[in-house]
Amino acid sequence: MCGIVGHIGEGNSAEILIEGLKRLEYRGYDSSGIAVLEGGSLSVDKATGKLANLTAITDHKKYSANIGIGHTRWATHGGVTHANAHPHMASDKAVVVHNGIVENYKELRAELQAQGHEFASDTDTEVIAHLAIELAKTINDETALLKAIIARLDGSYAFALLMTDFPDCLLVARNASPLAIGIGEGAYFVASDAMAMSSQTQRVIYLKDNDYAIVRKNEALIYDKGDQCANREEVIVSANPGLVSKGGYRHFMEKEIHEQPDAIAHTLSAMTDEAGTLTACLSEDELKNMTGLVMLAAGTSHYAGLVGRYWIEKLSGVPVTVEVASEYRYRAPVTSHLSHAIAISQSGESLDTLMALRHAQDEGLKSIALVNVDHSTIARESDFILPTRAGPEIGVASTKAFTAQLTVLLSLAIALGRAKGVISAEEAKERHEELQKLPSLVGKCLSLFEPLRPIAHELSKARSCLFLGRDSLFPIALEGALKLKELSYIHAEGFAAGEMKHGPIALIEDGLPVISLLGADALSQKVISNLKEAQARGAKIILLAADDVADEVDFASDVCRLPNCSEYLMPFILTVPAQILAYLTASEKGTDVDQPRNLAKSVTVE
Ligand code: F6R
Repeated sequence: MCGIVGHIGEGNSAEILIEGLKRLEYRGYDSSGIAVLEGGSLSVDKATGKLANLTAITDHKKYSANIGIGHTRWATHGGVTHANAHPHMASDKAVVVHNGIVENYKELRAELQAQGHEFASDTDTEVIAHLAIELAKTINDETALLKAIIARLDGSYAFALLMTDFPDCLLVARNASPLAIGIGEGAYFVASDAMAMSSQTQRVIYLKDNDYAIVRKNEALIYDKGDQCANREEVIVSANPGLVSKGGYRHFMEKEIHEQPDAIAHTLSAMTDEAGTLTACLSEDELKNMTGLVMLAAGTSHYAGLVGRYWIEKLSGVPVTVEVASEYRYRAPVTSHLSHAIAISQSGESLDTLMALRHAQDEGLKSIALVNVDHSTIARESDFILPTRAGPEIGVASTKAFTAQLTVLLSLAIALGRAKGVISAEEAKERHEELQKLPSLVGKCLSLFEPLRPIAHELSKARSCLFLGRDSLFPIALEGALKLKELSYIHAEGFAAGEMKHGPIALIEDGLPVISLLGADALSQKVISNLKEAQARGAKIILLAADDVADEVDFASDVCRLPNCSEYLMPFILTVPAQILAYLTASEKGTDVDQPRNLAKSVTVE
């Protein structure tokens, strides 16, 4: 959700900013821009659309500045236009990049307009630059000025401000949106995440909420919300300095689908202690102390939580609720029966999930971060970390992070069941051994690209379709529908197969594709009856099924056979063809698979 980057000191700022923006583009790709200060003047270059449109401009220019800021935008306030692209300049003397939402921007704008300021954009961000100019009329110290600016801002922000009056520093601040400072050789950097600076430095300081800082080429003076100098810990991050490549695949998403066997295997080994026991990274005491869980997440991560609930309640008897983070944070939830909150987030930065977690912490719950980014805000603010080891996920639609999240949740269910004595040590061992076969089972599903291609070809002509599943496959139906709609823009909904007769069956008309997820489990006959009811009303059944039960649906129009496996592994095995189907359908339609319209990888606004 917007990415910001800044540089001061040794090195060519423009080149460093562009390099950082390449690593931040996952946060938004509506527009991008850079601003540098050269010879006492500010210059801004920006372009709508992908970063390539900006580099088409910057590649032909010569820059020599040693101070600058850059931005990649996911539009919130104001359409996708050149004028609304960041950086935003005021009076040729102040320029700003911002991630977040200045909630009181209308009042500030009106006030500044009354003082004679002319605005060039519809954004909330631009007020920061004008406010800086206005306040600088009476404040000539940069720290006091920055403090005065943030005192006027409501909402969430991470911003970097560059002013001609203060040519040797960047003025930065954060509240709710992430911001890190990088320490280089003769240079300092700022960025929305450490990855953006990873070609320059691995030494990083994460600002805390309400921190603000004056960043110079050889120091960063950080202040907390009480205006005291804050000694924030420096950490070494192991972000890969190379830009993650597509490795010969057409899209990151295709590559990431193929990386799932490894992502699952690495995650599983992180869940296992040195003696080979599945502990889910939690001590025996901590597991025993878990009496009730609430899982907080958004989108695909939320669906992972929904699958986890089936497993944890069944294997451990511990009650679980799963909440959409953006709803939970404003509720007055009853937590007396709960002990822990688990925030599930690939990025570890989703603002809704972070705020929901803080809400749960305020309610007295212990916090667990189930994240793919170790140094993310959610990880840093939690009592425990259950890491997924999926590696950087670049495709905006989550794939390998989802199956890695499922791996953690199944590991937790098994470890918890054993610690609680609900399943025996033998059963836990058996389940663990079963789980160890998962990478190779998922590997087998990767051969489904070709069999699914003709199905995707037909599906790409549909205007709408349904996904049906039951039990732990119901959330996979939700996930399958989400993948299809976000990538191919075809309207898709997931339903619990048994729920169809309570309303959604009215949607069925001749030829409506119904993608049906079927495992060889206790409910399979019931699901088959539900599918028959849909087919009788004209639905075209596209069956994704375990080999053992596939033949029982002799009324399906298309069948994709999957390896037989235990009910606990079936959600993984059905996820892969659902991902592939969405990927292939989107490719047929020619949509932008890695960067679907209107989306961003890391959603750090409300
Ligand atoms: C969909 C997708 C999103 C994310 C959601 C939460 O493919 O990727 O729905 O799952 O935005 O993101 P994280 O997991 O980073 O909190």
